[in-house]
Amino acid sequence: MDNLSNEQKKLDVLILAAGLGTRMRSNLAKVLHKLDGRPLINHVCLAATALAPRKIYVVIGHQGEDVKRAVLEELDEEHAAFVWQREQLGTGHAVNSARKSLENEDSTLLILSGDVPMIRAETLAALVQQHHAHRGRGAACTILTVKLDEPKGYGRIVRNEEGLFSKIVEQKDATEEERGIREINSGIYCFDTRKLFAALSGVQNDNVQGEYYLTDVPSLLREVGEAVSLFNHTDAKEVSGINNRAELADTERTLCRRVVSRMMLDYGVSFIDPKSAYISESANIGRDTVIYPNVSIESASVVGDGCTIRSGTRIKNSRIGRNVEILDNCVITDSEISDNCAVGPFAHLRGKAKMEESAKVGNFVELKKTILGRGSKASHLSYLGDATIGEKTNIGAGTITCNYDGKEKHATIIEDNVKIGSDTMLVAPVRIGSGSVTGAGSVVTKDVPPDSLVAGVPAKVKKNFKDQENKNNE
Ligand code: UD1
Ligand code: CA
Repeated sequence: MDNLSNEQKKLDVLILAAGLGTRMRSNLAKVLHKLDGRPLINHVCLAATALAPRKIYVVIGHQGEDVKRAVLEELDEEHAAFVWQREQLGTGHAVNSARKSLENEDSTLLILSGDVPMIRAETLAALVQQHHAHRGRGAACTILTVKLDEPKGYGRIVRNEEGLFSKIVEQKDATEEERGIREINSGIYCFDTRKLFAALSGVQNDNVQGEYYLTDVPSLLREVGEAVSLFNHTDAKEVSGINNRAELADTERTLCRRVVSRMMLDYGVSFIDPKSAYISESANIGRDTVIYPNVSIESASVVGDGCTIRSGTRIKNSRIGRNVEILDNCVITDSEISDNCAVGPFAHLRGKAKMEESAKVGNFVELKKTILGRGSKASHLSYLGDATIGEKTNIGAGTITCNYDGKEKHATIIEDNVKIGSDTMLVAPVRIGSGSVTGAGSVVTKDVPPDSLVAGVPAKVKKNFKDQENKNNE
């Protein structure tokens, strides 16, 4: 009894994610393994959200609470629902866990696997469209299929003499002849929700794995005269399921290769060795930037135009301006670097470090939650934490902000045009006034007024440059 026309039907999504994924040989549930820095399940959620479904149901089981938490990083609570499958008795059994929520819905149900992360929203939209339009009336089920040169492991699509859908047979249950079939089930389907749940009641577990297979539903629908349609897709990588770590690594490489090639061809980024670059799909890199071998640019990092990033550098969740030169082996996380800065080699910026325009950080310098002002320099061997440093200030080699007293962190403020001598210890909280100088090896425990020279342990004011000037002018 159809009350609504197909186009009027609401779309719901069901993602299967209860399995442990034995073939991963991991203590972590498969869908929580990361691709491009984000759990597999989150990639699937993102693709599904783009279709603006009414709700996304996720079948959870193994490490269900963790899976739930991961999903809620991607979806609003009002658009997500979770159904528990406490014991994993197969994909059909997994769908059946959502029976109470869904069986009476006059809707279209898009079923996805939590372990097929490369699927694109455009492909899903085309699948739903074909499902609704099939022979003018819509189909009861539409299966997304693809032809593979190596179909091993997948369920095969068996067609009848007329070339129409007959059944899906799992690898383990297939005859020698059926194993020769190259067209496979991607595990992605559209169903008329009510017809799906009606047919699901008839699924048995009389197969090699003793599981309730969702893949038996299409042939059961066909047997009662319902239309089952096949949606043939050409991009095999997009629907490849991840079942083991080798497949995960392959997928990661494919994704990265696609990102790098788009950056070269569309964005005008140069890669000295494209194969060794690890660039996230969410990252953005500007025109004429040159990336040397073994560079990682992760999460939603942004690198501006005309930058050079030398080998072994890792940038995560950070913003880099234009014409910035980052030398070899730097680690830059959660930080911001403005235009024309120079960094490294072997520099570490973290915890909201910020370099303002034309600032310089040299080798073995760590910046944590520190602002290094315009044109200021810390060229060698320094730790600068919880510090605010003004403009045109020079931080001598070996300077340390002693920001931690064993209990709490304290701030250091260094104003403009200051010269911090080599090996100065700045015992925070402390402020160095503008135009001041610290002598080599000073241990500064008290605030230093502007235009003063301090030196010693503990450091004492030796001279005031302004007084001196006045005297010289007398
Ligand atoms: C499944 C299909 C196969 C298809 C392949 C595509 C079945 C029987 N087979 O095989 O035809 O070619 O996907 O990738 O459906 N899951 C649960 N509860 C369970 C069992 C599985 O939630 O009880 C979830 C898993 O966590 C996973 C997804 O369903 O996310 C697929 O399960 P998996 O065991 O990987 O199925 P395949 O053997 O790959
Ligand atoms: Ca699978």
